[in-house]
Amino acid sequence: MRRWISAALAALLPAAVRAVQLTDSLQDADLAQSGYLPCHNIDPARLGNYTRAWLNTYSSNEYFHAKPLVYTPPGATDELVILVSNQNNIRVLDGATGTLKYSRTVQPPFMAFDSNCGDIQYSIGITGTPYIDAATNIMYFFSKGYRPGSGPGDPNNPGVGAINGTYKLYAVTLPTLADISGFPVTIDGHAADNDPTRYFVGGVVLQRPSVAVVGNTIVGGFGGHCDNFNYTGMLVSVSKTAGVGVTGVQAMVASPGAPSPIPTDYINGNGGKAGIWQAGAGLAYDGGNKLYFTTG
Ligand SMILES: *[C@@H]1O[C@H](CO)[C@@H](O)[C@H](O)[C@H]1NC(C)=O
Ligand SMILES: *[C@@H]1O[C@H](CO)[C@@H](O)[C@H](O)[C@H]1NC(C)=O
Ligand SMILES: *[C@@H]1O[C@H](CO)[C@@H](O)[C@H](O)[C@H]1NC(C)=O
Repeated sequence: MRRWISAALAALLPAAVRAVQLTDSLQDADLAQSGYLPCHNIDPARLGNYTRAWLNTYSSNEYFHAKPLVYTPPGATDELVILVSNQNNIRVLDGATGTLKYSRTVQPPFMAFDSNCGDIQYSIGITGTPYIDAATNIMYFFSKGYRPGSGPGDPNNPGVGAINGTYKLYAVTLPTLADISGFPVTIDGHAADNDPTRYFVGGVVLQRPSVAVVGNTIVGGFGGHCDNFNYTGMLVSVSKTAGVGVTGVQAMVASPGAPSPIPTDYINGNGGKAGIWQAGAGLAYDGGNKLYFTTG
């Protein structure tokens, strides 16, 4: 009876207005990628007060190329630390204790031998820092795997499995990590808006820069593994609205040295170039209508 009463009272209360915690990190750095976060200052005089609170060890050959994010969902008492890995594992930890609260492997990761490259070792799952939308408790990130019904190629024949590789944009709810309806969205198969002969082949590209958000759109930068294939860097945008999917693909200009005509051997480097990599740093957004990034 008491439970029923408190539930009824809760229903009468107005929805709490949410404020993002000052120390939360919802994406890589700030919108503009200025590298300055006013909420994370540490007084040098207090450095000696800091000691390691916890240490966790994860799977063999598991790497965290993406930056961990910090988020405090509504009603949470502790901040959460969110990790995404090269093995396509996503984990939600209690920030104070390091205790695992939720985890999930979103899909089997793409194997590094299929990239015929070595830029990322062992497996190539999630390598770009995600973005958390605090208004909806949704985290967005790109993950590399294989198209349904297929898997890795032959480890003794590097690169052959690349053709079955694929990239998807995931949207998961925090903190439970359940998929949002209408996601993941597969990026493969879309041609560039500015060059219909160029189309997205997830197996040969790497999503390295941190994810950017422009209004209702998630934006990811891609470059080719070891300049393989005739890729060019690609800027991909996907709507946050379920069911809309990919809204834009922009191919970067091929480098002056690219061969012409461009061969279609997808295992070796054949020009194109102009990958968007940025050593993992995010695409800078001015908050209006301009997005800034650099290409290789
Ligand atoms: C830092 O440590 C000093 C003693 O070494 C202590 O006096 C001070 O209160 C501590 N500061 C904080 C913020 O814990
Ligand atoms: C790609 O996947 C298909 C199954 O969908 C498989 O038959 C084929 O051998 C795979 N190709 C390579 C090169 O691994
Ligand atoms: C690779 O280049 C050839 C020749 O320019 C083009 O026909 C083909 O569509 C390109 N492939 C991709 C994936 O962009």
